Amino acid sequence: MKRFVFLLLITFFCLGVNAQKFDNLAKTPPMGWNSWNKFGCNVRESLIMGMADAMVSSGMKDAGYEFIIIDDCWQVSRDGNGEIVADKERFPNGIKYLADYLHSKGLKFGIYSCAGTKTCAGRPGALGHEYQDALTYAKWGVDYLKEDWCNTGTQEAKSSYTNMRDAIYTAGRPIVFSLCEWGSNKPWEWAGAVGHLWRTTGDISDSWNSMITIFSQQKDLTRYAGPGHWNDPDMLEVGNGGMTTDEYKTHFSLWCMLAAPLLAGNDLQNMTPETRSILMNKEIIALDQDTLGRPATCYRDNADYQIWIKPLANNEKAVCLLNKSDEKKTVLVDFALLAQASSGRRGGSARGGPSLTIENFLIRDLWEHKDFVMKENSMYIDIPPHSVKVFRFVKK
Ligand code: GLA
Repeated sequence: MKRFVFLLLITFFCLGVNAQKFDNLAKTPPMGWNSWNKFGCNVRESLIMGMADAMVSSGMKDAGYEFIIIDDCWQVSRDGNGEIVADKERFPNGIKYLADYLHSKGLKFGIYSCAGTKTCAGRPGALGHEYQDALTYAKWGVDYLKEDWCNTGTQEAKSSYTNMRDAIYTAGRPIVFSLCEWGSNKPWEWAGAVGHLWRTTGDISDSWNSMITIFSQQKDLTRYAGPGHWNDPDMLEVGNGGMTTDEYKTHFSLWCMLAAPLLAGNDLQNMTPETRSILMNKEIIALDQDTLGRPATCYRDNADYQIWIKPLANNEKAVCLLNKSDEKKTVLVDFALLAQASSGRRGGSARGGPSLTIENFLIRDLWEHKDFVMKENSMYIDIPPHSVKVFRFVKK
């Protein structure tokens, strides 16, 4: 009888009956740095260590950034046992050495793979090696895995990603699991039980058009995200040179309003003061990392001019006025109305608490870093082209 129960348990285990994603991870959107947007395939050990050093010395770590993620091109082949092999020229001390280095700095380590036969850059993919790779990553000390969707042929997305989820769970090391299938199979509808974040669109590039187009595609998705399961509108381009400072402020503000993962994609060793002040604007980051974990919803949509409202813990809220147009807009903003405005999803104010009223809040301007002097309940506000104003309604 004992033997029978034992065999039954083993069978259940092998069938992955107990498998699930690791809970209690990514309760707020993951923050870190990823190599792809700036460096593409040009990754190497010295670069990754340099980024880790810069993340600490620049103050990024103190601002909340913790993951350093190597994207595509770290891997070259599989050995005779099917083990994934890192590029020895570029990573002379192996991947575990790097993970140990990052951990010694108090950072976390992320790596990239692909659900198909090959990665998007043509390196070995995970198909058929999921359990083996998950064990290898656990052994190396990986804390975050991004799994891409190139060269997947007729594979089915949900089962492919579930297979890797189960492999990670079986390997036993808690790893944040990031699905990167570009929104092709509506992951927001099923990926909450599979991973901790999922890409919602194709790749971002370093231009206003790309960024604002991706942002526009998030409008109907915000209700799917929450603690432990986030929409991922792709990594940040702040500091890469293709947008103006105002546009980068808009990019960063919108990602924080969406409660998006904040994965910097620039060269952390060479940041201008403007880039630093955007990526390390702690008042804006606090919106992203708010413990309520609710993305903003679009409260007013007048085409070029939108108002987004993000409910925050403690019955506070953030309001973002967005001017998408190429011209300055002067808009009449009714703060008393915004204070009482529904924050979307469940109707009424956040978690059903009492609405804010004009008497019981003050307004913080999160880019000016000062309290906003509200002379009237309704005021005209100038918003430059491609810019935002972001306010936090703080309870007195
Ligand atoms: C895809 C992903 C990108 C990046 C590249 C790497 O395009 O969407 O984020 O990982 O692959 O090849």
